[in-house]
Amino acid sequence: SLLDVAWANDIDVEGIFFLLFLIGACEATLACSTCHLILDPESYSKLEEPTDEENDMLDLAFGLTDTSRLGCQVL
Ligand code: FES
Repeated sequence: SLLDVAWANDIDVEGIFFLLFLIGACEATLACSTCHLILDPESYSKLEEPTDEENDMLDLAFGLTDTSRLGCQVL
């Protein structure tokens, strides 16, 4: 997932998209929203649609936007 990539690379992905939070408290089990990302519109449009489970958790994320995703769910 994008979260794995960020962890493996010291969470430095500036220039691709803006990271609001990237913590991953639940270790990708869709039980938190600490991996909330705000993507630029172009990057967001290239991704698969979020699942209902991801959308449910995104609804709990601080600062939700139209281009928000959970980093642990972006493959
Ligand atoms: Fe918890 Fe992504 S790490 S939902």
